Amino acid sequence: MEIRNYQASDERGWVRCRVLSFLDTAYYDDVHREKEKFENPSIELVAEKDNQIVGLIDIEYDTEDEKVCSEEGTGGMIWHLAVHPDYQNEGIGSQLMERASEEAIKLNLEFLEAWTRDAGNSAAWFEKNAYRQVDEYYHLYLSDQDMAHTVQPGDDNLQPLYMFAQYTGDNIEQFESIERKYKCMCYIRNL
Ligand SMILES: CC(C)(COP(=O)(O)OP(=O)(O)OC[C@H]1O[C@@H](n2cnc3c(N)ncnc32)[C@H](O)[C@@H]1OP(=O)(O)O)[C@@H](O)C(=O)NCCC(=O)NCCS
Repeated sequence: MEIRNYQASDERGWVRCRVLSFLDTAYYDDVHREKEKFENPSIELVAEKDNQIVGLIDIEYDTEDEKVCSEEGTGGMIWHLAVHPDYQNEGIGSQLMERASEEAIKLNLEFLEAWTRDAGNSAAWFEKNAYRQVDEYYHLYLSDQDMAHTVQPGDDNLQPLYMFAQYTGDNIEQFESIERKYKCMCYIRNL
């Protein structure tokens, strides 16, 4: 297994690895069909094994002019971290994280930031990899039935059928009947 910088010819393998790795997670429908291009400088690494991309990490980082992270200081935001399901639990995710952290230290970044949901084992994985939780809010997926109980727009010709929303208040209990909801948690690792 080789960890190296992402290159343009990796894009197809990157997309396939990311989609497959998220299939069994709370992010299963967060599908990207292309790799995004970041506006700010970034660390973009892939793990290659058996002639395919089996892991990836993308970190866009703060500069003097632009802030990417939500926490104070100069940090790097982990936008994507994924290991192909056939290659999970082999240490690839940890090695990607360590390599990315080494690069971040060379760039004088003070911390890495990651957001993940409370379903699945990714939060536990971050905690085992020296991250601590510093913030949280909720992601809500409202079905057509849930929508019947929420505010509708004034235009009768426009009827939303589903909704994806974030909730930052402290009365999550009011959404008890909504089946698909996640706590979205911010994790920080000091470098
Ligand atoms: C979270 C994720 C990136 C972790 O990657 P991974 O490569 O499976 O993780 P690792 O192999 O480094 O660590 C997992 C386990 O393997 C163990 N391990 C480490 N090195 C190992 C090795 N050489 N051989 C066997 N097992 C090893 C680790 O100790 C760890 O064990 P634990 O469950 O007791 O903690 C991966 O599961 C994934 O892509 N998940 C779906 C997408 C996702 O949730 N992304 C992050 C949130 S946005």
